[in-house]
Amino acid sequence: MLAVALLMLCAVSTQALDNGLGRTPPMGWMTWERFRCNTDCKNDPYNCVSEKLVKQMADRLVEDGYKDAGYEYINIDDCWSNKQRDAQGRLQSDPVRFPSGIKALADYVHSRGLKFGIYGDYGTKTCGGYPGSLNHLELDAQTFASWGVDSLKLDGCYSNVSTMKTGYPEMTKYLNATGRPILFSCSWPDYERASHIPINYTSVADNCNIWRNYDDIQDSWDSVTGIIKYYGDNQKTLVPVAGPGHFNDPDMLIIGNKGLNVNQSNAQMAMWAIFAAPLLMSNDLRNIQPVYRDILLNKEVIRINQDPAGKMGKKMLERNSTVEIWVRTLAGYEEYALLFLNKGSKPKTVNISLKELGFTFDPGFEFEDALDHGKFIGVFDTIKYYNFTVPESGVLLYNLYFSS
Ligand SMILES: *[C@@H]1O[C@H](CO)[C@@H](O)[C@H](O)[C@H]1NC(C)=O
Ligand SMILES: *[C@@H]1O[C@H](CO)[C@@H](O)[C@H](O)[C@H]1NC(C)=O
Ligand SMILES: *[C@@H]1O[C@H](CO)[C@@H](O)[C@H](O)[C@H]1NC(C)=O
Ligand SMILES: *[C@@H]1O[C@H](CO)[C@@H](O)[C@H](O)[C@H]1NC(C)=O
Ligand SMILES: *[C@@H]1O[C@H](CO)[C@@H](O)[C@H](O)[C@H]1NC(C)=O
Repeated sequence: MLAVALLMLCAVSTQALDNGLGRTPPMGWMTWERFRCNTDCKNDPYNCVSEKLVKQMADRLVEDGYKDAGYEYINIDDCWSNKQRDAQGRLQSDPVRFPSGIKALADYVHSRGLKFGIYGDYGTKTCGGYPGSLNHLELDAQTFASWGVDSLKLDGCYSNVSTMKTGYPEMTKYLNATGRPILFSCSWPDYERASHIPINYTSVADNCNIWRNYDDIQDSWDSVTGIIKYYGDNQKTLVPVAGPGHFNDPDMLIIGNKGLNVNQSNAQMAMWAIFAAPLLMSNDLRNIQPVYRDILLNKEVIRINQDPAGKMGKKMLERNSTVEIWVRTLAGYEEYALLFLNKGSKPKTVNISLKELGFTFDPGFEFEDALDHGKFIGVFDTIKYYNFTVPESGVLLYNLYFSS
């Protein structure tokens, strides 16, 4: 029907992990970027990684509107466990910081209508030096399932990376064998990338619901733009492997912390929507400023992120190494998300036609401003040139509909 040829993405026919989870990118909250491996509950009881912290975040998720917006996972990252396994060889939580145990914590999270995620490591130790799962993969899968875990991030520190291509799929099998659907987040391709080992994304998507491709996010705009650059540079590989049940993970949302201003926060939220990326916040929901909360709760941007077709957007072009233009095809091929990203420190005006971006539908497109609650902007002709002024270190994000 409509020639949007440049935007057509060839889907790879993967088996994909058949656990029914992550049909749209998972949303929730995670400890790592904000709270790291803070285990000092004696001197810093408010911020240490503990059951108290996790419960408080679960409460905030429910009471401040995040759950209603779609955020449902509460995930603990590294540094939750005891330094030793128990007498039966099972992982156990730190007795001081998690005195009630992980099962009780998962029960609490479930009682609030949320899902509970935990962290493990494929190697001999976690990145923070806690017990790793090497030679214990099956037992650890069973332990997590018995605790009521709904999501597992399996990191890859202290491991032989060349064994990951068989080791991660082994964990997929053990998780499946527990009978409990557990969303599986793999760090596998990121470690292979860093070790210059070829990545088989068909196999990654067959075995993982989400996977990290690139460096850990840090609390800065440089870190965010570095990740965006990696995604743009590697889109030929990354776009075809994303789909319902299997998504690229550019790492946590850092909105509400110190590193991003308002424009940059809108930019991260909008780019993650274009990427079809998991929306896992790592921030302090107990004292976040309302302006950042509103960005995280932006319904229109979340709607784009959660589009049921699950296609990752594409970078269509870049102007002067400063402005990038991305397009994501939404469900039914009747709607698109169009994003202008300005990485520079001054507002930039781009003069462009929709045709130049691959849109060839003659009656034109209706534009809505996704950052402004879907406000109607007007009908744009396909061949005419228009000026788009993009805020400094910020974005414009539009929903485009075929005009009748
Ligand atoms: C296990 O895998 C089978 C076959 O792919 C699938 O039908 C089933 O839903 C999976 N179970 C869980 C708990 O992931
Ligand atoms: C890592 O695993 C590969 C593949 O099994 C093996 O050939 C290699 O010897 C291992 N390296 C080390 C350091 O154990
Ligand atoms: C990649 O993995 C898929 C699925 O496991 C497999 O069929 C294919 O042969 C692998 N490709 C390469 C190049 O190893
Ligand atoms: C790119 O830079 C050139 C030279 O500074 C300028 O003439 C041109 O207008 C710029 N293009 C855009 C889209 O900003
Ligand atoms: C965001 O962009 C607008 C429009 O260019 C600008 O007026 C504002 O100062 C920017 N705010 C920040 C925090 O960068």
